[in-house]
Amino acid sequence: MKKILLLNGPSLGRLGKREPQLYGHETLAAIVRRLQTIALTWGARLDALQSDEEGVLVSHIIRASGSYDGIILNPGAYTHTSVALRDALQAVPVPCVEVHLSNTAARESFRQISLTAAACQGQIMGFGARSYELALIALLGSPDAERRPRPRRRASAPRARRTAAKS
Ligand code: DQA
Repeated sequence: MKKILLLNGPSLGRLGKREPQLYGHETLAAIVRRLQTIALTWGARLDALQSDEEGVLVSHIIRASGSYDGIILNPGAYTHTSVALRDALQAVPVPCVEVHLSNTAARESFRQISLTAAACQGQIMGFGARSYELALIALLGSPDAERRPRPRRRASAPRARRTAAKS
């Protein structure tokens, strides 16, 4: 079973209340629940942690090595300042997708620089809470994904008859 670690940085614990015009009305807890449900449909597991402290985030990135198959990281404001987070990401072989709810490229100039993105496999931003879902699909849908979502069988669909091939 693939294991994904979702890390959220400073002030993201306030999602839902914090500047909803920028970050939406959904709480982080609701986003995490939805991601965990999606992960399960892929036969994967998602663990989540939010911290306002840079060192805590660094420790979890380092500890992810050997324990997780992928990291989804919204570093919040540390995106624009943290050499420590970038170094931690570079120190582990775990693929990371950087996520932002807002499109930081279209915001203040200090937000247009990410110190962490270069240490990630990719970056998804500007789609609100959907950015997290897209990141999860990017990680689980990678070529070495163990399992694909099972196609749902339509309840009313008649069962296809098996016809044995005659030789
Ligand atoms: C953010 C963008 C950052 O610039 C900001 O500091 C945040 C949220 C986003 O998800 O859009 O805390 O990471």
